Amino acid sequence: MVWIEELKEHVGKEVTLKGWVYNKRDSGKVRFVLLRDGTGILQCVFVDTEIDKETYGLADSLNQEAVVEVSGLVREDTRAPGGVELTARSLKLIADSADYPITPKEHGIDFLLSRRHLWLRSSRQHALLRCRDTMIRTFHEFFGDRGFILVDPPMITPTSCEGATTLFEIKYFDDVAYLSQSGQLYMEPAAAAFGKVYCLAPSFRAEKSKTRRHLTEFWHLEPEVAFLDLEGDMELAEDMLLFVVKRLLERRPDELKLLGKKVEGSEEHLKLLEGLDKPFYRLSYTDAVKMLNDNGIKMQWGEKFGADEEAVISREFDRPVFVHRYPKASAPFYMKEDHADPDVVLNFDLLASEGYGEIIGGSQREDDLEKLKAAIQRQKLPREPLEWYLDLRRYGTFEHSGFGIGMERTLAWITGVHHIRETIPYPRLIDRIYP
Ligand code: 4AD
Ligand code: MG
Repeated sequence: MVWIEELKEHVGKEVTLKGWVYNKRDSGKVRFVLLRDGTGILQCVFVDTEIDKETYGLADSLNQEAVVEVSGLVREDTRAPGGVELTARSLKLIADSADYPITPKEHGIDFLLSRRHLWLRSSRQHALLRCRDTMIRTFHEFFGDRGFILVDPPMITPTSCEGATTLFEIKYFDDVAYLSQSGQLYMEPAAAAFGKVYCLAPSFRAEKSKTRRHLTEFWHLEPEVAFLDLEGDMELAEDMLLFVVKRLLERRPDELKLLGKKVEGSEEHLKLLEGLDKPFYRLSYTDAVKMLNDNGIKMQWGEKFGADEEAVISREFDRPVFVHRYPKASAPFYMKEDHADPDVVLNFDLLASEGYGEIIGGSQREDDLEKLKAAIQRQKLPREPLEWYLDLRRYGTFEHSGFGIGMERTLAWITGVHHIRETIPYPRLIDRIYP
């Protein structure tokens, strides 16, 4: 048996394949069956005058997504999707599929999400998840090449990392525990052990927001580096993103084009990615507020940016932009205060271009024990579950920084898809945990 993706090496030879019937079309005395095996799509041509009646009749009656075994001759055809076509000689029905619910006509998004387990077979979803595979492998390659050690954080945790409002509480025997919002607190000790570390794991956020950028479960990649300051942290994020974008353009050009089909502005988007280079823009929070005010958006220094504000900022730039040094009053307890201006912290959000908004959040960590204790107290966080974290500042404290990047938001930006629910195989949303 051979896979469709290998057929180019079998031109002029007889092969046998198994797959699902993707689509079917007839023209006079010929039946065209599009066969899908997960690695590609192959046009199988059944000619009335060249095969027996029974085989031809079977080809004529095939249902969408039925599983078949086909044998035939592989022929080169530059117009065909994989560059080859099959002149079919025999056909066996292995499993039928009656009334497959997802037909080539348009379906509504709720209909499709409820059938996500089947929707994965459609060409657009297929392209997207192949891009996801390449992207995630490339992230691992980037950090692997640079000597980072992969350290897996726990998913069940005794405390919050990113604030109590988005915590999922779970029953833990006779106690309560929380699903992890971020692996960061566990990466910091790992950085003291290994210097350069990262994790890639699910993070959970009980986000009450129904937007195109929020999932309740997403895949979170988080590097953490010893003896790295905020500027070095931004440079790492910049190099990483450039590496990943270039690789996707190289390895998945067909998928990216398919995803951009019928999407307005997708050609400009691809050009923008092709021309992507460093440095990305850098803008302080204070200057960002001025910029928003100049654009007619009323907001005070100290207020948080919403999706609209982020979209306005990122539309001003043709490259991603680092917005750095946000107000300390609303920052997480672990971010390091800026010596030059104690009202702000040494952090950044990276806003992707074209209105996609934040895809990375990072910071230099507070390494001063007393300042960290004060921040925990100021934010009224329970001290006891964080004692272990304070140990890092007791036993050889060190300058260190890191960031978190969401796989789904990043993939949405690179592929140009509007909503992140399509960028993960099984999206978890405020109103959906099925299938
Ligand atoms: O900005 P966030 O909340 O930062 C942290 O969790 C830090 N502890 C990371 C660190 O420094 N190690 O989340 C980081 C990124 C966001 O920029 C976004 O890409 C993604 O995680 N993210 C989400 N993606 C999808 N749905 C959500 N609800 C998300 N929340 C955050
Ligand atoms: Mg953030």
